[in-house]
Amino acid sequence: MKGKFITFEGGDGAGKSLQIEKVAQYLRSIGKEVIVTREPGGTEVGKEIRRLLVEGDKDKFDEIAEVLLFYADRRIHLEKKIKPAINEGKYVLSDRYNDSTIAYQFYGSNKFNDTKILDELYKIIAGDFKPDATVLLDVDVELGLKRSFKKAETTNTKELRFENVELAFHQRLKNGYLELAKKDPNRFVVVNANNSVEEVYEELIEKLKTKL
Ligand code: TYD
Repeated sequence: MKGKFITFEGGDGAGKSLQIEKVAQYLRSIGKEVIVTREPGGTEVGKEIRRLLVEGDKDKFDEIAEVLLFYADRRIHLEKKIKPAINEGKYVLSDRYNDSTIAYQFYGSNKFNDTKILDELYKIIAGDFKPDATVLLDVDVELGLKRSFKKAETTNTKELRFENVELAFHQRLKNGYLELAKKDPNRFVVVNANNSVEEVYEELIEKLKTKL
């Protein structure tokens, strides 16, 4: 039996990692084999690509170089990790996937006129493969950023390349994600991520169960 591919999306500080862990626990409790992974950086090579992408100055390369790196990471991730695991019957939970590229690089950055290049690149690396379900954690922009900076302070992270951008970016990002969800309601589960971890999880798991 084939496994499933479930992706988690949202702006910075939406609380994805905590929710992914809880969903993984739930799936294991009902007997599924689960792997948790992420983009960028879900493979060994991907970790090197991740470092190039998330550390340093935000203008260190342009938007074309940037998306090529994201898609290189995604291709390796798909071929080496996601597809083999699904073929072994596992449930693969990914912290971010292709919707992140559309949301951040198209809606957020505003540097592409349309999604054509991104859609083409996705087709090249993945064909018509897509997630079985995508959880969108929808958080208010200011709350998300507050959580995100607090986490960065306590973990002393260098990964601030995508956080150091203006508020309007994050507002576009949030609206962009909601638009993506509206276009593909069969795949997306939209969850209000402004509440406590427990409350968010309750809403999330009830909605996700209908897609599993
Ligand atoms: P992530 O580790 O999920 O960061 P966070 O914990 O802040 O959610 O992702 C790293 C950053 O990379 C994040 O700011 C979003 C960005 N990103 C893109 O811009 N495009 C993409 O395609 C992906 C996968 C991530």
